[in-house]
Amino acid sequence: MMVKRSLGIWGIAAALVGVFAIAPAVATVNEKTPSEQTLRSLALRHGLYLGTAVDLSAAKKTDEPRYSQIIASQFSTITAENVMKWDALEPERGKYTWAAADAFMSLAADNHQLVRGHVLVWHNQLPCWLTEGVATGTITRDELREILKKHITTVVKRYRGRIWQWDVVNEAVSDSRDDADGVIRYKQFWYQHLGEEYIADAFRWARAADPKALLFYNDYNIEAFGDGSAKDKTQFVHTMVKNLRVKGVPIDGIGSQGHLSTRYGNYDAFQIAETLDRFASLGVATAITEADVRSPITEGVKQGLSDDVNAMVHAQAANYSALLRGCLGSRKCLSFTLWGFDDKHHWTTITDLGRGRGAESMAGIYDAGYRPKQAFTAMKADLAFSGAPYVQNRLPQKPMP
Ligand code: G3I
Repeated sequence: MMVKRSLGIWGIAAALVGVFAIAPAVATVNEKTPSEQTLRSLALRHGLYLGTAVDLSAAKKTDEPRYSQIIASQFSTITAENVMKWDALEPERGKYTWAAADAFMSLAADNHQLVRGHVLVWHNQLPCWLTEGVATGTITRDELREILKKHITTVVKRYRGRIWQWDVVNEAVSDSRDDADGVIRYKQFWYQHLGEEYIADAFRWARAADPKALLFYNDYNIEAFGDGSAKDKTQFVHTMVKNLRVKGVPIDGIGSQGHLSTRYGNYDAFQIAETLDRFASLGVATAITEADVRSPITEGVKQGLSDDVNAMVHAQAANYSALLRGCLGSRKCLSFTLWGFDDKHHWTTITDLGRGRGAESMAGIYDAGYRPKQAFTAMKADLAFSGAPYVQNRLPQKPMP
């Protein structure tokens, strides 16, 4: 028997009251709408730390208040773009210049932000006394190893207990473009002069200097696995970290830098999440550490032709969104850091990458006038309109002793 359901006037009234009764409850839970909230607060809904690299000279400019305001409001973790690198910390052998790095640490403390330390061992931005000493032979192999140990120990001890994640070793592995055969190998200065063992040494020395910091290996072009062959950089890094941890080397995380360009196809969120999960299966945490999406500055873009500019900003937003959703989709992805957030101070704008023929820049999520771009809005929506079962709180990582 069909029971005729008739709400009647009172039933409809009750239903409407009911709806409004629910609506204010939802509204009071988040007094701000998602679009009014910050990347920082929306990311923390998932336990995710949203960060940016900081150009300290820009942050200190009194005539650029928006730069610092955005850093303080939108991000819960920051990375020193340059002031914690070796050439900045020890420009002359044995003479450390801590002022800028200390100022950066104070900025993070003032903003209640976690710090990603960048970077202990890298082949770029090394002080001349070191590279020239090695080149002329005045610094022997054994001496170089002691110099590296002293550098890591001195820097890590100075900020002991105040660094959340350290990029201990950066970009130790070649790219398929580096050698004619496309095979992935160890590369550059430290490997050439100390051999592969410097990587394990660096992590052990960093751990000895700070028992709590999460120690990361950091590299680019490892957003997704390739064919698993000798030409697959992501596979090489996965195998390297696996073997080091089997040997008891204290590696707690893998940083995937995430430097993308709209000129390439790049990867989708599923591939990125799967890659981060496969890294995490080694027992490590992961992080997107240097996300940016640059674009070729075509004549059309230069002239501000809407077809060109729209295509660029849409493609940029889609790439940032893929990186962020990939991180959200992998519970060990603890942080998502932009390698700069505005076009005015972005490294792709300032360095040669952004100048001359084939220039690629406009990589920030804010334009040069601090106006948010589509990428900013897309990231905010990704953070706001996501949740269980496929996006859940981050899983904590215990530092390996
Ligand atoms: O400090 C000198 C200054 O004294 C001099 O007047 C000026 C003029 O050339 O150069 C200044 O050094 C610049 C340095 O940034 C500090 O601003 C270097 O020329 C410039 O090449 C250097 O660029 C940095 C680049 O690493 C170096 O490879 C970028 O700012 C920085 O964003 C970029 O960051 C790296 C990450 O550390 C590692 N992953 C890749 C990423 C992009 O290359």
